[in-house]
Amino acid sequence: MMINNDKDTYGSLAKFFHWTIAALILGLILVGFYMVGLERSPLRGDLYSYHKSFGVLVLWLVGLRILWRLYSQQPEPHENHQKWERLLAKVTHIFLYVAMIGMPLSGWLMSSAGGYPVSLFGLEMPSLIGKNPEIGKRMNQIHGILPYILTGAIALHVIGALKHHYMDRDSTLKRMVAFPLRNIAPPILVFVLVFFLMIFAALAVF
Ligand code: HEM
Ligand code: HEM
Repeated sequence: MMINNDKDTYGSLAKFFHWTIAALILGLILVGFYMVGLERSPLRGDLYSYHKSFGVLVLWLVGLRILWRLYSQQPEPHENHQKWERLLAKVTHIFLYVAMIGMPLSGWLMSSAGGYPVSLFGLEMPSLIGKNPEIGKRMNQIHGILPYILTGAIALHVIGALKHHYMDRDSTLKRMVAFPLRNIAPPILVFVLVFFLMIFAALAVF
């Protein structure tokens, strides 16, 4: 298995970062909306604690992913992609990176500003700032609004990948998927997208 990317395809490390972070983020969005609706209870406390740990984990993984992205070559877009599709994909990827950093960072800043501890599965993380209710409130607003925009961007991103797979019939999606899963991944991803959007709507919109 090739670790590095080349001009045609993603290597195993880029795939590992992509799918691990994607799964964590989808889970964190749903758990985040679920836990804020709970009454105070031990379950709520546990979910907050796990939410923070997995959120901090995402931040470290995204840091490593960016370093790897800077070091490793990026596969080129397919020649059949229109100019607007390339531009839209680029803008969406940039926004996804902004949100992948902005979500955990705003969560961490919100907790620090509120005087709450942050740990990575028991390993204490430093407070990023001192207690500050004003900043805490701002970060809480950002952390509450960004998931809606992020979900819209993820939906657009996944629909784009599925369009290239089912309509353009090129390898855009396949080159991000490990070889043995290439044939079963696309229908599973359609299911994941629909399932995620349904739960998201139930928890966050209604
Ligand atoms: C990619 C990472 C993250 C995602 C996608 C995410 C997502 C969410 C979502 C969707 C909510 C519900 C928002 C609402 O309805 O107000 C939420 C709440 C929350 N998140 Fe995160 N989160 C992430 C990382 C973090 C981190 C790193 C921390 C802290 C270290 C954190 C702390 C919190 C807290 C304390 C709440 C509850 C806020 C409240 O009670 O009003 N999150 N998160
Ligand atoms: C679960 C469904 C998802 C599918 C089917 C999917 C599919 C893909 C595909 C096919 C590519 C390669 C595009 C190309 O080569 O032009 C890609 C790249 C990318 N995806 Fe996703 N993705 C998903 C979820 C996510 C999520 C949740 C995020 C982040 C929040 C994300 C962030 C990115 C980024 C930033 C890239 C650009 C390449 C890189 O920097 O690694 N994806 N995705």
